[in-house]
Amino acid sequence: YIADIDASDTEKGTYSHYMMKEIEEQPFVIRKIMSEYSDEKGQMCMDSSIIDNVRNCDKLYIIACGTSYHAGLIGKQFFEKISDKPTEVVIASEFIYNMPLLTKNPLFMFISQSGETADCRAVLVKVKEMGYRTLTLTNVKGSTLSRESDNTLLLYAGPEIAVASTKAYTAQIAVLSILSSLVNNKININIFKELSKIAYTMETLCDDKENYKELAEKYLVNSRNCFYIGRSMDYFVCLEASLKLKEISYIQTEGFAAGELKHGTIALIEQNTPVIAVITQECINLNTRSNIKEVKARGAATMVISMRSLSQETDEIVIDDINELLAPLATIIPTQYLAYYAALLKNCDIDKPRNLAKSVTVE
Ligand code: G6P
Repeated sequence: YIADIDASDTEKGTYSHYMMKEIEEQPFVIRKIMSEYSDEKGQMCMDSSIIDNVRNCDKLYIIACGTSYHAGLIGKQFFEKISDKPTEVVIASEFIYNMPLLTKNPLFMFISQSGETADCRAVLVKVKEMGYRTLTLTNVKGSTLSRESDNTLLLYAGPEIAVASTKAYTAQIAVLSILSSLVNNKININIFKELSKIAYTMETLCDDKENYKELAEKYLVNSRNCFYIGRSMDYFVCLEASLKLKEISYIQTEGFAAGELKHGTIALIEQNTPVIAVITQECINLNTRSNIKEVKARGAATMVISMRSLSQETDEIVIDDINELLAPLATIIPTQYLAYYAALLKNCDIDKPRNLAKSVTVE
């Protein structure tokens, strides 16, 4: 069914924190997005001028910050693997100093939950001066980035109040997957079918939250630091999972490409250092699992979030078998809960972590 997420729904209801409420709204947000981006026959659709702009550009430049940047990294994979469109993702605050060499006919896509982030706006102003086309993906209708871009795609996630972004991230990924398959679907993926499956998988993952609370207690609460490791699509989830954990629980957390372990990071592994591996991509399954063995042999306390359970030796959160490209939409859910419970058990201010703001309007 289609969730009725009211744009004025800013109440916590029975939840003690907005973050928990927003985590649990994600299955509904996915369904809401599917209904917003479908025609009367239930077929996927979007403003055709947006589709044409992406189709006709020779390269897509995605500009974003924080969590939205992490969604952009996944978006790049969609545009390159599904649409065959060369794509580069640039951190907004770096763009001005390290401007990539631009192609003849680029399209700039800004991803911003709030649509107000100053670093993104600085890039928007600059590329508009240069005469380039712009598109904004945002959750806030009428926001600055939306008003100042040529086109806007809305996320329909409903208001996100907690500083740590959860439902906007999955909404961004869902909208990017729809757009990429409308531009060109070279791998013939049925995005709506996959998103429906994912909304259901998200619900089953949310039902397991008591388990994540126990895991947060066992692995994270008493730890100074933590590592998320993964390869391919899983690596991008690790970046977001580590941002979530560090920003609300203050546990120093890094997400990195599992293959890079041996090039330095493994030196940081001590007795009981938590290492959480995300494994959903069949082609890297064995490689990442051998990385788990390497860190385990050096004393790490390992946990796995995966699509196919293999080992009994380590705690494992197993998710349904879903399309590998879209797997980040599901694997991120347990990591959001792990961050939430680690922060809760440490008595942190979950919805308003220290030193952070929901929307950063200074460069
Ligand atoms: C702030 C928030 C982050 C967010 C980032 C980008 O730093 O604390 O959660 O990811 O801004 O925000 P935006 O609204 O542009 O997505």
